[in-house]
Amino acid sequence: MGSPVKVGIVGCGTISGAYFKGCDPYDIIEIKSCADLDINRAKERGEEYGVQACSVEELLADPEIQIVVNLTIPKAHAEVNLAGIAEGKSVHCEKPLAVNRADGKRTLEAAAEKGVLVGCAPDTFLGGGVQTCRKLIDDGWIGDPVAATAFMAGHGHESWHPAPDFYYEIGGGPMFDMGPYYLTALVNLLGPVKRVTGSTRMTFPERTITNKTPRYGEKIPVDIPTHLTGIMDFANGAVATLIMSFDMWAHNLPRIEIYGSEGSLSVPDPNTFRGPVKVRRAGDDEWREIPLTHSDSVSRGIGVADMAYALVHGRKHRVNGDLAYHVLDLMASFEDASNNNAHVQIESTCERPAMLPMGLLPGTLDE
Ligand SMILES: NC(=O)c1ccc[n+]([C@@H]2O[C@H](COP(=O)([O-])OP(=O)(O)OC[C@H]3O[C@@H](n4cnc5c(N)ncnc54)[C@H](O)[C@@H]3O)[C@@H](O)[C@H]2O)c1
Repeated sequence: MGSPVKVGIVGCGTISGAYFKGCDPYDIIEIKSCADLDINRAKERGEEYGVQACSVEELLADPEIQIVVNLTIPKAHAEVNLAGIAEGKSVHCEKPLAVNRADGKRTLEAAAEKGVLVGCAPDTFLGGGVQTCRKLIDDGWIGDPVAATAFMAGHGHESWHPAPDFYYEIGGGPMFDMGPYYLTALVNLLGPVKRVTGSTRMTFPERTITNKTPRYGEKIPVDIPTHLTGIMDFANGAVATLIMSFDMWAHNLPRIEIYGSEGSLSVPDPNTFRGPVKVRRAGDDEWREIPLTHSDSVSRGIGVADMAYALVHGRKHRVNGDLAYHVLDLMASFEDASNNNAHVQIESTCERPAMLPMGLLPGTLDE
C-alpha cells in the first residue's frame, strides 16, 4: 500500500476522542493535525493523541491534508465544510450535514465542482449490527418489507454534555441530533423515501443544565421542536412510523423493528456498531438471535477510512453526501409537514450504499 491519506480534524470537543481512537486501526489514514476555534482544546487533544495542533486556517491550507474531518457544532458544519472544499479537500462531517437544505445542497454542489468527496456521520450503519440486518433483508429472511418502527426517546443531553446549548438550537433537537442514526439505518436497509408527514411540538421552552460543571443550574433557551412523530413512505412501498423525542422520561419502545411479509426483524441501536439482531419468522414461537455476519469491532472512523478507500481506489464511498443530503431532506420535511398540515413529497433520493463484504480483516474495508 502507498502512503496513507492524511487527515485533519477540525473541532476538538467531546466527540473528537472517538475519532482519534476510531481512525487508529486503519492504515489507509493518518491523522496529521487537529484544530479548533479554541487552540488550547486542539493542543490538549493533540498532546493526548500525538498529533500536531494548529489553527483552523493552517490546517485547511496544508496541501498534504486530503480529508478534513469536521467535528464542530451543527451550525458551523456547512461553513467549515465549504472552507475545506474551497481548499480542494474532501470533507467528512459529523451529523447533520447542515442545518438546512440550502446549505446541504451548496456543500454537495461545491464538492462536485472541485471534484472532491463529501461524507457525513453516522457511519454506524457499517457496524456488524446494521450490516447483518441488511444481509438478512437482502437475503429474504423477512420477505418483502411492509412496515417499520423507529423510536428514540429520552430527556435530552443537558444532564451530561459540558456545553449542551447546540442541542436546543437550529440543527439540534431529537430529529437533527439523533434522527440521522435512525434514518440513515432505515435508508440503508429499505432504500430512499418518497413522502413524509409528521407532527412536532416543543414542550419545555428552556432546559436546566444538571451535569456537574461550573454551568450547573444554568438555563438554556429552546429554539426547536423537541418531540416529533412522523410517517415515512419508502419508494419500495414500506411505511414507517417514528418518534424522536427529548421530552420523555421513560418508555418501553424498541429502537427499530422491520416487519416483512414473512417475518419481523429487530434492529439494534443504530447509535452503536453492535447487535443484537433478532428475527421472528412466520410460525416461529419466539425471537431468535442471529449471529452477526459482519464485525462489530469497529467504531467512528470507519466512515473516514471508507472515504480514503474511495479516494485511493476510485470507488464510491458508502458514507456519502447523497445519503446524508437525503437524510437532511427528510429531517427538514417532517417539520415542514407539521407546519403546513401536509404530506411532503421528497425531492432528493440516493442509492443504498453497497454492503460491506463479509470476513474483512481488522483495519481493512474492501480492497
Ligand atoms: N458528544 C457526543 O456524544 C456526540 C456524539 C455523536 C456525534 N456528535 C456530533 O459531533 C459534533 C460535535 O459535538 P461535540 O459534542 O463534540 O461538541 P463540543 O461542543 O463538545 O465540541 C465542538 C468543538 O468544535 C469547536 N468549534 C465550534 N465551531 C468551530 C469552528 N467554526 N471552527 C473550528 N472549531 C469550532 C468548539 O470550540 C468545540 O471545541 C456535533 O455535530 C454533534 O452532533 C456528538
